[in-house]
Amino acid sequence: MKIWAVANQKGGVGKTTSVVSLGGLLAGLGKKVLMVDLDPHGSLTCYFKLNPDSIEQSSYPLFLHEGTVPDDLAQKMVCSTSVPGLDLIPASSALVTLERRFGVQAGMGLVISKALAQLRGQYDFVFIDTPPQLGVLLVNALAASELILIPVQTEFLALKGLERMMHTLQMIMKSQGHELKYLVIPTMYDRRTHASVESLRRLRVQYENNIWPGCIVIDTKFRDASSAGMPLSQMFPSSRGVKAYRSLLKYLVENLTAIGMKVNHG
Ligand SMILES: Nc1ncnc2c1ncn2[C@@H]1O[C@H](COP(=O)(O)OP(=O)(O)OP(=O)(O)O)[C@@H](O)[C@H]1O
Ligand SMILES: [Mg+2]
Repeated sequence: MKIWAVANQKGGVGKTTSVVSLGGLLAGLGKKVLMVDLDPHGSLTCYFKLNPDSIEQSSYPLFLHEGTVPDDLAQKMVCSTSVPGLDLIPASSALVTLERRFGVQAGMGLVISKALAQLRGQYDFVFIDTPPQLGVLLVNALAASELILIPVQTEFLALKGLERMMHTLQMIMKSQGHELKYLVIPTMYDRRTHASVESLRRLRVQYENNIWPGCIVIDTKFRDASSAGMPLSQMFPSSRGVKAYRSLLKYLVENLTAIGMKVNHG
């Protein structure tokens, strides 16, 4: 079971879109995929037409047992989506109270790792969607994951935001005492704009060894798919956006070893 978090403290860079797109593609290939929504805003949850303000099955109850997770609780929080093979642990808006209650308090950082351990063997891939700020939820996502995908919008402000995210990764690596593997994913690339072209060039220089050599192009069909509540690959399988995420997936599967990961093709 591969567990990957999608994270960046900058908002609106394509985190949720990446979770849905990669999850949708893998489910389409017959893989069993679980998505976990750890963002109190619940964009991923809303994407699949569930309401974070009223939902009872969610990631929230996992945090209410002083850092342990009672047997079978994770299983009880799983919802299916309209896409076969694609499941979701939704977010509840109550998650926001956890950030206030626990901050980055010790003892609460491994809740999601423990919850996912209960589901081991049931899924080929798990994607964790994270909120755009540092707190107990992001710390949990990073601790549970063997690889962190960092979408970065190809514009100048986003490059600054990425430095902040790198700082967070370093801080967490120090406090947890283990290395975190990450890959920068340039998103919303528009080759007609100077800002996109130039910021992609700078990203590639700065993150030479930790950047996907491709990029996710801008595609208005992502918005159409999100209003329909379907992954782009299920709705517009030959769109530019799907081609881009398919090529990212191929890269991840073929190169995980090179970024220090072992991959199981089965
Ligand atoms: N490649 C793309 N082309 C065009 N639009 C995109 C693309 N990727 C994402 N979007 C759109 O940009 C908006 C922000 O994307 P998304 O919600 O995935 O970002 P996010 O990083 O999860 O944001 P937040 O930090 O608020 O959770 C959405 O409306 C989404 O449909
Ligand atoms: Mg999001």
